[in-house]
Order: sequence, then C-alpha cells, then structure tokens
Amino acid sequence: MLDSEYLETLKQDGLYRSHKQISEVDGVRVKVDGRWLINFCSNDYLGMATHPEVINAAQQSAQTMGVGSGSAHLICGHRSAHHLLEKELADFTGRPRALLFSTGYMANLGVIAALSGRGGLVLEDRLNHASLLDGGLLSGARFKRYQHADIADAEVKLTAASGGGLLVTDGVFSMDGDLAPLPKLADLAQKNNALLMVDDAHGLGVIGDQGGGVIEHFGLTVEDAPVLVGTFGKALGTFGAFVAGSETLIETLIQKARTYIYTTALPPAIAEATRTSLTLIQQESWRRLKLHENIGFFKQTANRLGLSLMPSDTAIQPLLIGDNKQLMDVNEAVFGQGFWLGAIRPPTVPQGKARLRITLSTHHQQQQITAMLEALAKLLLIG
Ligand SMILES: Cc1ncc(COP(=O)(O)O)c(C=O)c1O
Repeated sequence: MLDSEYLETLKQDGLYRSHKQISEVDGVRVKVDGRWLINFCSNDYLGMATHPEVINAAQQSAQTMGVGSGSAHLICGHRSAHHLLEKELADFTGRPRALLFSTGYMANLGVIAALSGRGGLVLEDRLNHASLLDGGLLSGARFKRYQHADIADAEVKLTAASGGGLLVTDGVFSMDGDLAPLPKLADLAQKNNALLMVDDAHGLGVIGDQGGGVIEHFGLTVEDAPVLVGTFGKALGTFGAFVAGSETLIETLIQKARTYIYTTALPPAIAEATRTSLTLIQQESWRRLKLHENIGFFKQTANRLGLSLMPSDTAIQPLLIGDNKQLMDVNEAVFGQGFWLGAIRPPTVPQGKARLRITLSTHHQQQQITAMLEALAKLLLIG
C-alpha cells in the first residue's frame, strides 16, 4: 500500500532512507555533488574494485564473450569463466566444490530454503545479516534466534528441537565487526546432529594469513562448517557470491535452490574479474597487512582521542551513538567536513543501537584516518 503518512513518520523519527550519488571514484576518494570526500563506508576493503588488472579482466571478457550471460546456469548461461571460477573457489576454500550465486542475498535465501525442510529448525544468531534472517523467515521451516554469540542460549534452543536443524551465523558480524564463536558453534552443531552454515561475507580475503576468512582463522574443516557462503562484492571488489562445501551439498543446491535455478547467471565478465581478483588477493598479501595496520592505527587514534569503540578487530569499526536523530546529525556534520561514514539505524540494528559504521581500507592513509577521527571527536566530545 502507498502511504505518504508512513514516509512522513519515518522522516520525523530520523529513520528515512535515501541514497547519495557518486559521480567519480579515485581509490577511497569519491565525488558527490561536485565535492570530493574520503569514503569510510565501502566494503571494498582491499581496494580491488579499482585494481587495473581486475578492470582489464572484465574488459577483455566483455569484448570476447559479450556483457550478459543470456540465461540461467542450467539453461545456457554457464560459461567457462563460471566453471573456472567455481574450481578456483573450491581450491581457495579447500572444499570439494563451489557454486556461484548472483548475490549473497540470493545465496542465503536459496541455501537456507534448500537445506531446511518444512517443520525443521533454522536457528540463527540474532545479529545475523538481514539476508540470513530473511532466509530463515521465508524458508517455511521453524525459525528461531539465539542471543548474539551466546552458545548456552543456542544450545538450549537446538537441543529443545531434538534432532538436527540448520545452525546459521555470520562469520564476521556485518554491523558489529566481531567474529562468531565458530569452534564452539561447530561443536554444538556436531553434538546435536545439526548443519553449521557460515556466511563469511566480511571475513573472506580480509582475515587469515591467506585471506581464507574465519574458517582459516579458526583452523576449521569442512566437517566443522559444512556450508560456507562467501561474497564477491566486498574484499574481492566485484559482485556476486558462492557457496562451498561437499559434492552432495552442491548437487543438492543445483537441484533445489530456487535462487540458483530461476535467475540469470552472473555476467561472465564479472566472473573473469573475480578470478583475477581471487588470484591477486592471494599474491598481494601486502594489501591485508596494510589493512590490518590501518585497523590498528584507527583503534589507537580513537582511544587517544577518547572515542569509545565497540569490540572489533576487523575492518568494520562501529561507534555507538544510540539515538537515531543524533546519529543523523553527527553523520551529516562529518559529511560536511569531507568524510563519508555509514549511518546505521533500526531495523538494521536493534532499537537504541544506532551507530556510525566506519569501514577501513588498504588504501586509507593514516592522515585521512586521523583527520576523520579528530572531526568526530570534536563533534561528539566537545559538541
Ligand atoms: C553478512 C552478509 N551476507 C550477505 C550479504 C549480501 O551480499 P550481496 O551484497 O552480495 O547480496 C551482505 C551484504 O551485502 C552481508 O553483509
């Protein structure tokens, strides 16, 4: 239903959503309304979206294969670029197979519905990404949530279900930046005959010496976490997603995952760009090192300035504000000073937990981080 009063209420409550338009990009600098800003809200953590070799791979592929894939994978959309990318993702994650999806959102919807029967249980961390929560809600299964990272609560809810179920978690929580307690969740799943599904959209490429994400970080096997989802729109700098796991998992998804079956395959040029990016993030480990140096520098500087951060060691660094309107005021003021931060409000985060979501990149310079934090400290601590 169209309801202009509803829109008005959202505006009054500081909850209205709108987008800004970027007209030019130069690394972490972006031009909005004719003004250059430093971008602190992109998930392009390693700067791969503008890597010349990644751009070149997309261009070359589009020239020879065309732009669109023309069809779903199971009709005639599956090109050799997709096939090779799936093989390379399987190697990268150390899993028998991988399967491409058009977006992470679609991967999560499709996988959860395909792996949870009607009447079965889908159990999720309360702070999981919206696509995982929507996947649980839409799956037709019994959908429950446990308190954030609370193993005891997850155990009560899983054992009450007596027998199996799908236990689902973000690897790195997208709005908080903390890591899921994966070894304990893997234990819990195994003891209760449940299947653990990990969405590592924000860990892949960033965490682990090789960029293998939370699975590498915690040294987990495919038996510990049988279903792994990764996305390309973040550290890999392109677009799309994949699921990696056993032969049986992938063949099941091909037969059952509706968001795989009934949609056009990724443009092959994107698959080629992603292949190049996947190779480069392994070769250019300096990108990860520089990003982690920037994360350390950011935390140290925020502490020195008296800004209190949430507990995160990842590229996602939230600064809790609480009130929605105050958040929007602060965000607009720093934007006016040339820094673009994420302003995250309910329902993306719980009521009263509105926050600035600051994301760091390999390409940020320390003086840019300092200037942004000084501007924030002035606004928040001096007023
Ligand atoms: C944890 C997580 N999973 C999935 C997604 C969705 O991925 P995509 O943007 O490819 O749809 C996102 C964000 O976009 C995310 O943060």
